[in-house]
Amino acid sequence: MKRKAAALLMLLLYTVFVFAGCSKPEEPKKDDLIVIGMSQVGAESDWRQADTASMKSVFTEANGYRLLFEDARQDQENQFVAIRRFIQQKVDYIVVMPITEDGWDAVLKEAKDAGIPVILVDRMVNVKDDNLITAHVGSDFYAEGKKATDWMKKKYASAEELNIVHIQGTKGSTAQIGRTSALDDALKANNTWKLQARMDGDFTEAKTYEVMKEYLSNRETLPKIDVVYCENDNSAYGAIKALESFGYTCGRNGVSIISFDATYNALVYCQKGKIALTVECNPLLGPLVESVIRTIEEGKVPEKNRYVEESAFTPEDITEELLSSRKY
Ligand code: AHR
Repeated sequence: MKRKAAALLMLLLYTVFVFAGCSKPEEPKKDDLIVIGMSQVGAESDWRQADTASMKSVFTEANGYRLLFEDARQDQENQFVAIRRFIQQKVDYIVVMPITEDGWDAVLKEAKDAGIPVILVDRMVNVKDDNLITAHVGSDFYAEGKKATDWMKKKYASAEELNIVHIQGTKGSTAQIGRTSALDDALKANNTWKLQARMDGDFTEAKTYEVMKEYLSNRETLPKIDVVYCENDNSAYGAIKALESFGYTCGRNGVSIISFDATYNALVYCQKGKIALTVECNPLLGPLVESVIRTIEEGKVPEKNRYVEESAFTPEDITEELLSSRKY
């Protein structure tokens, strides 16, 4: 009799709980999670690490996602392997930060045939059929480069000659192609600008330090350098280290270092005057990728290509407020 009463009481409590709408919010069941297969470039720069952190903070189980994250360690073949694995695993979406632009047609066609939407983040791919891509979210790298060359034009308007050393990012990546094209266009348009050297820094501090040191070591006399156009912050750090070890001064009355990304450390370098201009490239793309996925989940068509807004900083622009609010 006692047991019957207890069971009745439980039933009553349960009914009241459910009908009063007081039930505990349910954790999404495993099967309810949206499964994302993500292939990231690697961890070559501070920017990249911030981008990965942004993705991981958004695509959590608490937000309704299961994230299958693969680090390609700067090797495109690893990206192809990861994508084919995601297709086998029947993920709901494939998110790719492509290392370089070429060679994607076959693997993306396989994803399309499997009915899996592909969202590109940061960089682009060069494919014959644009329908292989559902959406892209990232930066306009040519516009970033143009900000740098416009600044150079203004700063050196009265210079008789401008000696430029160019450190490129990973060859064939959209970031390298856009930033290099902007410099090439400005070189064509300004006949006082002289490209003294162009080297591959692969977006890393270590590689840039190495190539810059080698360039300076192989000269009988140290060359006059006015500007070093580094295609990201980390390569700027490597260039500064190498230049200083050869006795150059970076900053006011010395070599003007230009960098891209404007991550926290670069802003600090810029505040100290070691970096003359740092052009922003925003890595916090997780929320934008999620909004693309939400749009598709609602049965709508997302914007095909979304560029983020970015700016550029010189030492005068670096305030304590900017530094303390910088999230990457
Ligand atoms: O594609 C974005 C670029 O890649 C960033 O400028 C660089 O730091 C990163 O590695």
